[in-house]
Amino acid sequence: PTARFALHPAFTVGQVHPRLFGSFVEHLGRCVYTGIHEPGHPEADAAGLRQDVLALVRELGVTAIRYPGGNFVSNFRWEDSVGPVADRPRRLDLAWRTTEPNAFGLSEFMAFLKKLGPDAEPMLALNLGTRGVAEALELLEYANHPAGSALAERRIGHGDKEPFGVRMWCLGNELDGPWQTGHKTAAEYGRLAAETARAMRQYDPELTLVACGSSNQGMPTFGAWEAEVLTETYDLVDHISLHAYYEEKDGDRDSFLASAADMDSFIENVVATCDHVGAKLKSDKRIQLSFDEWNVWYQHRFHEQIEAEPLDWPEAPRLLEDHYTVTDAVVFGSLLITLLRHADRVTAACLAQLVNVIAPIMTEPGGPAWRQTTFFPFAQASRHGRGEVLDVRADSPTYRTKKYGEVPLLHTTAVRDPESGAVTVFAVNRSQSETLPLRVALDAGLALTRIEEHSVLSDADPDARNTLEDPERVTPHPGEGAALGADGLTAELEPLSWTMIRLA
Ligand code: AHR
Repeated sequence: PTARFALHPAFTVGQVHPRLFGSFVEHLGRCVYTGIHEPGHPEADAAGLRQDVLALVRELGVTAIRYPGGNFVSNFRWEDSVGPVADRPRRLDLAWRTTEPNAFGLSEFMAFLKKLGPDAEPMLALNLGTRGVAEALELLEYANHPAGSALAERRIGHGDKEPFGVRMWCLGNELDGPWQTGHKTAAEYGRLAAETARAMRQYDPELTLVACGSSNQGMPTFGAWEAEVLTETYDLVDHISLHAYYEEKDGDRDSFLASAADMDSFIENVVATCDHVGAKLKSDKRIQLSFDEWNVWYQHRFHEQIEAEPLDWPEAPRLLEDHYTVTDAVVFGSLLITLLRHADRVTAACLAQLVNVIAPIMTEPGGPAWRQTTFFPFAQASRHGRGEVLDVRADSPTYRTKKYGEVPLLHTTAVRDPESGAVTVFAVNRSQSETLPLRVALDAGLALTRIEEHSVLSDADPDARNTLEDPERVTPHPGEGAALGADGLTAELEPLSWTMIRLA
């Protein structure tokens, strides 16, 4: 059986927003400390930022970076993280039962972004767990007001003469979750988010604001939460957030490989809920989706770790350090494909997280940094998945999964660069054992004449991974046998693989 689809330049989904390739830095485990910041490391610059990590983050191609949490933010006092480092307090982080030294804070984060380059942008999360409107306004003034007010002058006194110019703000984090410090009902959170958004817009009506949606589609309040929160905030926010993590459970790899089916329905259900609220409010406005936490995450390993040895307020312990396999990277790639396929409504997304903590980049304290398997699909999609997403409706053989029923073996999308006309096809073959033949009919208007690149991530060992000892065990390899002819593109997708084919 062959999988097929057709591409036509006029049939499009929408423009890929640069923020789709965002990531996330939380004060959690070793994401910040010994991840991006390690004074004394041979690769550290004068500010303590690891330049080996900076180089990998640039290569990864991330854009908006969400900061400083996550669960961490819901008991965070931003004032602790600014000013002379020697004066900053050590605080208990209730979310992860660790001690936060505040040696790295807002100013250091902004310096990190600046060193990444012009594509990097902050996405600051506010503490709406234990704090409220007043503290949000104070942080906004400190971060964005040029000069002449108490908090702007405080920032200047701290050495940051120029305002940070933060455009995108998350109104809290996962406040639907009982694990969240300051957990709230939808009614409580909806009011607080609306008041905070209204006050922030009094300062700057043009800010981009994100209301908290559900922590995942399985939450008991899913759907009702979004509807109630948006009823309060519809005219005041731009985005609603979605978070989702996937892992292989009970050895059911077939279902794990189909995880994007859940992400897909999650997005469609949130779009339906947003538009239902919009219809009730007789509003033309369309709420955008910010998928600001997504990844493969073996949560059971984390729970086993802390059950075996409860955390006793350590500093920067090894937490959530998943080492990703080729299979994980294939699932990860299919999650990226789903985000791209919904580019009309998902206009921001953050790969959670960036370094060490469920991350595409790993580091060893005092030692090297390396790319995990998941690094490669992200870097390729960020580099070549820019432009217009084409409307791909594939006809594919299917397979049965316990969790999601009948699922197509092929998961795919295509992105066209409107300037050069180049088209990049991203595809995942979910079959664990069979090669999947692919036929793509290309409309003559696309004027594609050659295959620029055919790159594949697959391995004879689906559990292969990159480690400190063997950091380049898994890398993409050139694909074989793809051809471009009068009938379009033909290719053979290797079993359990991520493929990128660039056509020009
Ligand atoms: O990314 C890890 C954690 O997952 C975040 O802190 C939280 O927001 C989510 O539950």
